[in-house]
Amino acid sequence: MTKQTPNANSGHGQPEVARLSNRHILGIEGMSPLEIRALLDRGSYFADHPTDSGSTALRGKTIVNLFYENSTRTRTSFELAAKRLGGSVLNIAVAGSSVKKGETLLDTATTLNAMHPDILVVRHNCSGAARLLSRHVDAAVINAGDGRHEHPTQALLDALTIRRRIGRIEGLTVAICGDIANSRVARSNIHLLSTLGANIRLVCPSTLLPAAIDQMGVDVYTDMESGIADADIVMMLRLQTERMAGTETPSQREYFNLFGLNKDKLNRAAPKALIMHPGPMNRGVEIDSAIADDVEKSLIHIQVEMGVAARMACLEAVSLGAA
Ligand code: NCD
Repeated sequence: MTKQTPNANSGHGQPEVARLSNRHILGIEGMSPLEIRALLDRGSYFADHPTDSGSTALRGKTIVNLFYENSTRTRTSFELAAKRLGGSVLNIAVAGSSVKKGETLLDTATTLNAMHPDILVVRHNCSGAARLLSRHVDAAVINAGDGRHEHPTQALLDALTIRRRIGRIEGLTVAICGDIANSRVARSNIHLLSTLGANIRLVCPSTLLPAAIDQMGVDVYTDMESGIADADIVMMLRLQTERMAGTETPSQREYFNLFGLNKDKLNRAAPKALIMHPGPMNRGVEIDSAIADDVEKSLIHIQVEMGVAARMACLEAVSLGAA
C-alpha cells in the first residue's frame, strides 16, 4: 500500500467549499494561490471521503461531458465525480454525434445550451476551445484539455497527489520531462506548481521546447541526466504524436535512449524521488515498465485515484457560481 499523508483537516470537520472568482475553470493561469489551495483542501477531503462526503452539491443538476478527443481517465473520472455529488451526467461521444456531420463547435454548444445543462465539461483539440464555448453557453464550463493549451484538472490532481504523499509542494524540485511543446499537462503544471512555490525544470530535446519558454520562469535542460539530478518529482509525458508534424523526434528507440526514464537515469534523482505520468503511458518509449510499475516510487495509480477527488472539488466549486 502506498503511504498517504492524511488531509490536515480530516477529523476536524470539513474544509470550506472552494469559492472561485471565475465561474468557469478554463485554466490554472490566473488562478490565485488561495483558490488553488482551497480546491486542493477540498479535493483532499473528498479523497478521504470518496462516497460519504455529505456533499450533494450537484443534486438536481445536469453535467454534460462533451469530448472531441479520446479520453479514458478524464472522462470517466468526471462522470464518477459528478455522480458522487448527486448529479445527472450526459456523455456526448463526438463520434456518434452531429459533429461528424459537420456541425461546428458553436452550433453544438448552442444546441446543448437549449437543453440547459448546469455544467459543461469539454475536451477539444483546439487551444482556446473551452474559452470560446464559455462565451456562448449559460452553463459553467470546465476545460478537460484544449489542444496544447491547458488541462487544469490534471494539474490539480497532480498537485493533490504530491501534497498528500509528501505533505507540501513549496520548495520541491519537479522535473517535467518529454514532449513539453505539445503538452497541456505541462503548461497547467508549470502554472500551478510554480504558483505554489515549486522549482520547475523542463527536460526535453530542443525540438520539443515550447515557444516563449523564457517567459515561463523555469529552468530548461536538454539532457536527461542533469535535468533530473536531485529532483524530488520526475513527471514523464507522452510523445503526443497526434500534435506533431513528424520531424520533432528521432526513432522511438533513440528517443527512449536519450529521454526515456529507466533505472540508471532515475538514480540521478533524489534518493526518495517519486515518478508521475498523466497517462496514457507508452511503455518503452518515455518510461521503462519496471519503473512505471514500481509501487514504492510510482504515483501513477494514485494520480488516477486523485482525479476523481480533484474533479469533485472543481465540479462543486463551479456549481456555486463565482464568489
Ligand atoms: C493527457 C491529455 O489528454 O492531455 N492525458 C490525460 O488527460 N490523462 C496527456 C496525454 O494525452 O498524453
